[in-house]
Amino acid sequence: MSMDGRCAVVTGAGSGLGRAIARRLAADGARVVVAGDKEGPLARTVELIEGDGGAAVAVRCDVTREEDVAALASRAVERFGRLDVLVNNAGMEFAKRVEDTTVAEWDRLMDVNLKGVFLCAKHALPAMRDGGGGVIVNVASELALVGSEAVAAYSASKAGVLQLTRALAVDHAGDGVRVNTLSPGVILTDLLQTALDSTGDADKRRREFEERTLLGRLGTPEEAAEAALFLASDRSSYMTGANLVLDGGWTAH
Ligand SMILES: NC(=O)c1ccc[n+]([C@@H]2O[C@H](COP(=O)([O-])OP(=O)(O)OC[C@H]3O[C@@H](n4cnc5c(N)ncnc54)[C@H](O)[C@@H]3O)[C@@H](O)[C@H]2O)c1
Repeated sequence: MSMDGRCAVVTGAGSGLGRAIARRLAADGARVVVAGDKEGPLARTVELIEGDGGAAVAVRCDVTREEDVAALASRAVERFGRLDVLVNNAGMEFAKRVEDTTVAEWDRLMDVNLKGVFLCAKHALPAMRDGGGGVIVNVASELALVGSEAVAAYSASKAGVLQLTRALAVDHAGDGVRVNTLSPGVILTDLLQTALDSTGDADKRRREFEERTLLGRLGTPEEAAEAALFLASDRSSYMTGANLVLDGGWTAH
């Protein structure tokens, strides 16, 4: 299996895409550090991975707090002896235009979606370098590429992730660290359901999303996890600084 012997840290792994990515990497042989801000859901992800015969440990970590993130990287090395893969998946979203967004809301979203990626990369890189290299996968969004209604702060944060990815790729190619972005389209998870519910007519909004997508349906967390595994493994060995878009054709037209 392509991830045998490797240690992968996945943030936001207590739900949605993060849980699916953690399970997919573990199924392919990785030992996974399941990180996130809520203990119960993390324990459930570990249970699912162990139930499938994989190895995982849960580490509670708020990606906006540097002390938590530093401890996360140390814990990965302590538990599994190395750190090969970091999937920066933790994220948040709210549906607001700029005029309706408070400064506190803007700051919190930027902290989670962008500063979190910076902090996790900062603290994972030394361990990756010590191990002879590694891979970072940053989860952005199709909304890093195109505009949409009432997602100003979210779009800006994800565009930042895209460019931070390129900067990291340039700075760390020489360390043997590849850094790529995965940009999912509309994937049915709790985050999406909350966003749909906040519109007041979730079914209508969902139908609009489906119609806007060339493939006529929403994506699944498992489909996104397959793409994350590709980026995390040697199968993408000639890719760095790239953005893999997984959006059912949303941004193609
Ligand atoms: N679902 C989609 O349609 C979609 C589309 C494009 C991009 N994304 C991105 O995929 C990622 C995962 O989203 P999801 O849909 O699975 O949503 P989700 O809400 O199910 O997952 C987000 C996870 O991040 C965790 N998290 C939030 N703040 C955190 C913090 N400060 N520290 C640590 N963990 C924190 C949450 O506990 C949760 O487990 C996000 O970055 C999101 O922006 C999702």
